[in-house]
Amino acid sequence: MMESVSIGKWLTDSRRPSLNEDLNILAETSFLAKSNERQKLTLNQVYPDSELVAEMDQPTNSTHRTADPVSSEPSGMSELQLNYYSKSCPNAEEIVKQQVITLYHKHGNTAVSWIRTLFHDCMVKSCDASILLESINGIQSEKTSKKNMGMRNFKYINTIKDAVEEACPMTVSCADIVALSARDGAVMLGGPHMEMKTGRKDSKESHLAEIDALLPNHNDSMTYVLSRFQSVGIDAEGTVALLGAHSVGRVHCVNLVDRLYPDVDPTLDPDYAEYLKRRCPHPEPNPNDVEYSRTDLITPMTLDNMYYKNLINNRGLLSVDQQLLSNPITSPYVKKMAADNDYFHEQFSKALLILSENNPINEDVGEVRKDCRFVNSE
Ligand code: HEM
Repeated sequence: MMESVSIGKWLTDSRRPSLNEDLNILAETSFLAKSNERQKLTLNQVYPDSELVAEMDQPTNSTHRTADPVSSEPSGMSELQLNYYSKSCPNAEEIVKQQVITLYHKHGNTAVSWIRTLFHDCMVKSCDASILLESINGIQSEKTSKKNMGMRNFKYINTIKDAVEEACPMTVSCADIVALSARDGAVMLGGPHMEMKTGRKDSKESHLAEIDALLPNHNDSMTYVLSRFQSVGIDAEGTVALLGAHSVGRVHCVNLVDRLYPDVDPTLDPDYAEYLKRRCPHPEPNPNDVEYSRTDLITPMTLDNMYYKNLINNRGLLSVDQQLLSNPITSPYVKKMAADNDYFHEQFSKALLILSENNPINEDVGEVRKDCRFVNSE
């Protein structure tokens, strides 16, 4: 059966970006339409059916959390639970959800940001909203790390927090808002709905110094990436699913040019490489220029398995994305997720929930910040 890409269907979808983004994408898609016709191989042409399932390797990673040689666990760990705010702020989750929906309708890419923010918060020591702290009073903001380049929409987290504060002052943590907004953002993007535990507290410090060691880079080896995810209890299958978040959003040229200059990475589809070079014409992009490419040109605002289909057509954007297909441990999962969107959603939910529960702290070491950007004053 042919895998067909319905750009028309996407363009009539209500979950789509703003008009300006539409125009931008239309220009992008029309260029690719031609090359898609040539390049669009069916999954079955590339990988016969039997291979999709039969080739599954045993994952080498376990879902059990292992000691992380780099991060040290905070002493005051928190027990998360479903409906943690049922007595203290019964409407908390509903307020967050309504805010996420309202913001999404104004700025579609806020939903994209919430998913990335959860990853960058939780992967670095703890889901403790440390990423939201500004540089002030001896704190050096994590936002200044090169690894956090391109992160956006932080100001709208404050919008959500303000709405929650109005209903329940000093009750709902910023860390829970980061987690719940990612959950609700995923739904806005056509992703799965998840039951998520709450009860995280907010850190009183930034973990800027630890970011380089804990957050993988776009050109790290898959072996290293798998080991980083394993350290937070996520196995190879979960890692493949989580990287499916790159089915939405954008990548700035500075993170792409290594694959284009001086020579084009031979694992890149040549037509796609040509397109990317047009998007990123300078081998050394000025970091202040807003030059980027969307991660998925076909369904850019939908959290779906198009990402895996793109990988199979050698149209992964980051080196780390494309390695999912070339690595023998991860590639069977890529093929399975490319063939089955429900399976992708199932694994994505499972892994995102594990990530969202990484080392939550309690009130012995954390607090509920009044303003997500600052530690409460003593
Ligand atoms: C090995 C792991 C990962 C690496 C190296 C990585 C790297 C990157 C890079 C370089 C970008 C582009 C930033 C820019 O140029 O603006 C990006 C974007 C993004 N990443 Fe990841 N990422 C990883 C895993 C994840 C995970 C696990 C998630 C969430 C579950 C995620 C969610 C996103 C999202 C949603 C975007 C688009 C952001 C936007 O458009 O504002 N990433 N990632």
